[in-house]
Amino acid sequence: METINLEDLFEAKLAKNEMIEPKDWMPENYRKHLIRQISQHAHSEIVGMLPEGNWITRAPSLRAKLILLAKVQDEGGHGLYLYTAAESLGITREEMLDALLTGKAKYSSIFNYPTLSWADVGAIGWLVDGAAIMNQVMLQRSSYGPYSRAMVRICKEESFHQRQGYEIMTQLSFGTSEQKEMAQDALNRWWYPTLMMFGPPDVESPNSENAIKWRIKRETNDQLRQRFINQTAIQVEYLGLVAPDKNLKWNEKKQGYDYSDPDWNEFKSVIKGNGICNKDRLLSRNNSHKNGEWVREAAIAFGKKQEQESKAA
Ligand code: 3HC
Repeated sequence: METINLEDLFEAKLAKNEMIEPKDWMPENYRKHLIRQISQHAHSEIVGMLPEGNWITRAPSLRAKLILLAKVQDEGGHGLYLYTAAESLGITREEMLDALLTGKAKYSSIFNYPTLSWADVGAIGWLVDGAAIMNQVMLQRSSYGPYSRAMVRICKEESFHQRQGYEIMTQLSFGTSEQKEMAQDALNRWWYPTLMMFGPPDVESPNSENAIKWRIKRETNDQLRQRFINQTAIQVEYLGLVAPDKNLKWNEKKQGYDYSDPDWNEFKSVIKGNGICNKDRLLSRNNSHKNGEWVREAAIAFGKKQEQESKAA
């Protein structure tokens, strides 16, 4: 009788662009890689609620407040889809949250920068959500089914977020000179941290080789960063703003923009926990977790009561 090699089956599925599903056999390192990436991604969504949540009470109009409130709620939902996708790989929600709350887990470096003005809310939607979409559109074709499907929904919502941010930037850039200055200041502060979101340069990215081999990522950090710059440089120009990079220039030969690298030492320092807001973000998450304890207890008690009632019926 012919024996089926599970690893060959896994490789054959990848080669045919088929999805790997939770009950399929998968190499242990593939599972670990996904748990690492998806849980970090989930943490980024949840921590990402904080910088903008900070502006909900100060939004300049009721319309702006409603939109921002919905956006921040969306990010919470994204975190939940992603935690659920990671749970399907055999890690518990408690383990992931514990890693976040004790500072062991990484989340996106971008959320360790402060939001100083309303223009920062615009810059986050435009640049940060724009960069997240650039990455996540690729992740819709990721090889792990639950991750890929979560991305489809997330990308739809992120597109609204990007437009919300660009609308704010448009209003400010074509507004009074003070408003335009505010937009320029936000662009100056968010440009390089946004470029860092794509991760270290390919030559310094320890995880990219496996991620590409296993089709978890379809494009590399540098490829996505370049595409983001090509798209965004034109928008900067349209807004009448100036990117804080004197080397940003169209290069006909490579059919893309030349640009300066962000300060990779700053990036390393931020992901080690030394960014401007790292401590504050962790403290906020820990406080929210403590304050939410009664909600979790009530939900568990309600679940138990329903279970007892359905058994008794
Ligand atoms: N911030 C924090 N850590 C980062 C980082 C960043 N911007 N970029 C890379 N790193 C970390 C990696 O997690 C890895 O750490 P580890 O090995 O200890 O886990 C290390 O730096 C080396 O980086 P690699 O390039 O080798 O690692 P990855 O292949 O994991 O690439 C990534 C980095 C591009 C972040 C990739 O993990 C990825 O595509 N992740 C999924 C998308 C994601 O997490 N996006 C978060 C953006 S925010 C968001 O979506 C919220 C939205 O509302 C705006």
